[in-house]
Amino acid sequence: MFGTKDHLRAQGGHLLIEGVDVVDLAEKFGTPLYVTSEERLRENARAYREAFPEAWIYFAVKANGNLALLRVLAEEGLGADVFSAGELSLVRMAGIPMEKVLFNGNSKSTGELEMAVEAGVRVSADSLDELLALSEVAREMDEEVEVAFRVNPDVSAETHPKIATGLKTSKFGIPWREIVEVYRTAMSLEGIKPIGLHCHIGSQILDTSPFIEAASKMMDLAEEIVEIGGEIEMMDFGGGLGIAYSPGTEAPAPADLAAGILPVFRDRCREMGISPRMILEPGRSIIADTTLFLTRVNVVKRAHVNFVGVDAGFNLLARPMLYDAYHHAIVANKADRKPKERYTVVGPICESGDVLARDRDLPEVERGDLVAMLDAGAYGFSMASVYNGQPRCPEVLVAGGRGELIRRGEDRSVFLAGQVVPPRLLK
Ligand code: LLP
Repeated sequence: MFGTKDHLRAQGGHLLIEGVDVVDLAEKFGTPLYVTSEERLRENARAYREAFPEAWIYFAVKANGNLALLRVLAEEGLGADVFSAGELSLVRMAGIPMEKVLFNGNSKSTGELEMAVEAGVRVSADSLDELLALSEVAREMDEEVEVAFRVNPDVSAETHPKIATGLKTSKFGIPWREIVEVYRTAMSLEGIKPIGLHCHIGSQILDTSPFIEAASKMMDLAEEIVEIGGEIEMMDFGGGLGIAYSPGTEAPAPADLAAGILPVFRDRCREMGISPRMILEPGRSIIADTTLFLTRVNVVKRAHVNFVGVDAGFNLLARPMLYDAYHHAIVANKADRKPKERYTVVGPICESGDVLARDRDLPEVERGDLVAMLDAGAYGFSMASVYNGQPRCPEVLVAGGRGELIRRGEDRSVFLAGQVVPPRLLK
């Protein structure tokens, strides 16, 4: 029923995650609620470590910034890809070693560059302009910073246009034809130690061939850099491996990605006589399927379609609205019943686009039922907002047969936080 998701099953009519009944979790912690399986998270992290034994796996923190989950990943030996000062402080708190952190970003502020240098993390330079600014920051702080260069490899991967990042028209990276010159400049800059290359071609990619194409372009560039006397200590091939969101689809596993890119990497390194560390930055393929998003049905409305109104929408799960993304929906308290009618699951937000699941065949849905949206661990909570006066919900981690709170839900004070009403308006 749940494909490869063996942390999910139905029993006694209820959906269970890692053996724990989600109906009980909803009772205990309320809805909406994000629920994560710790075991599944560890398994996913291990699948990468086993497929790429010599590589360092950096979790892409933008996919999920929950501190408890980052702790689990730190325990599994993962590093982190961070994209802001905020993400860097999170991984520091989670105890991820700074030597296993890459500070990414296409538009870093001076404050962020200073924080990266102070923390002693490696920085991925996204432009010449940024490289020069970083050199100045490092010089002023009397430090040396290790720098990788974000390559725009001009590789097209089939995915939603909003999440393709390796096209030549994308805002990310230095055009691949300019990389060697930028590297040469970096070799002469004070405070800068150029150590390698970085790319990321996009997200939710279900075919390994664009990864192989990008890897081979990256190795070509590494060769040119070695020829000009540059050192290559790391090669970061980014994240992007997709997952099977809809039943019946298939996604490559980390082992399939390894079968595609490891030979290219190893052979080319051998030819060049270099032995850089391989780095990967998966987000989605580590965390997405570990988590479900539980919502409660407020209303069933039979209009021109059957609308199921639940207690959260794109405020807490934005992906369907933003990318027309599919998340499988299950009526969690009727998990063993056959589909009876076609429904469209919508949230409470004041926009027509607030649809979580369109035209799904589900068992009869009634007020009070629980709808679970699957595969919500990546870019779910991390993209949540408080739009329309909806506080963000709690998160729960399931391990050892029980659920533990890993983030408290917000209350209405969140709408007042930081707000200042000038006294002249209080008369
Ligand atoms: N590295 C870099 C530099 C990235 O920009 C990203 C994702 C990753 C790694 C991780 O990619 P992943 O393995 O998760 O595909 N909000 C969108 C996805 C945006 C991805 C942004 N960058 C979504 O919900 O589909």
